[in-house]
Amino acid sequence: MTAAPNEPAGLPAETLAELRTIAARYPEPRSGLLPMLHLVQSVAGRVTPEGIEACAEILDISAAEVSGVATFYTMYKRKPVGDYLVGVCTNTLCAVMGGDAIFDRLKDHLDVGNDETTADGKVTLEHIECNAACDYAPVLMVNWEFMDNMTPASAVQLVDDLREGTEVTSTRGPRICTWREAERVLAGFPDGRVDEGPGAGHASLAGLKLARKNSWTAPKADAGESKSIDSGTAESKEGAAAQADTSRAETETTQEEGKKSGE
Ligand code: FES
Repeated sequence: MTAAPNEPAGLPAETLAELRTIAARYPEPRSGLLPMLHLVQSVAGRVTPEGIEACAEILDISAAEVSGVATFYTMYKRKPVGDYLVGVCTNTLCAVMGGDAIFDRLKDHLDVGNDETTADGKVTLEHIECNAACDYAPVLMVNWEFMDNMTPASAVQLVDDLREGTEVTSTRGPRICTWREAERVLAGFPDGRVDEGPGAGHASLAGLKLARKNSWTAPKADAGESKSIDSGTAESKEGAAAQADTSRAETETTQEEGKKSGE
């Protein structure tokens, strides 16, 4: 592929066009950098130096600025990722509920360490921090989709199914696609699966159901409240000023009396 003049090299022309499409979606084009990096990953399998250069040139920022973003967030990968990125939550609650045991079992079963990919290129294993899914601990994520209430045995079955090409469905989401396909969705190009799966699970909705059953409602935001806070602040300032005046007057009176008694 020969790049056109002033055209960043290293990515297909259609990808460069899509990167520009993403940038054009934002009043400030550089706001599109995060989805642009996801698109780079969907095409190149990781954030490549060429992808960084392309984003920098399109957004008219430096490669160092792009690289700074790409190395800050854990969703951006500098090493190639397999077809399925399997993340095991080993944060506190998941760990005590079995996350550590799951991670150890998968390392043995897949013969990989953290952030490593199986020899067949199918599965990349990594441990992840809390995904705000503690009500279903211990959880795994496959290409950012939840797999709830896992055990070492169900985790092994999961990765075996993924490697064999058996269709796998997230417990709270759609059929699992490949990591590159998921990255394209994160770049802002829907795959039509958004309505698959239940979305929110029973445990996450328990509080809402209880509130509805008991007719509990959240306090209404009151426009007057902010006014009263503002006026309260003003009153506080006035009160503090008045108190300072009183203290000053008392001090002056005491000094005056001291002078008189000393005369
Ligand atoms: S600790 Fe695992 S999702 Fe919160």
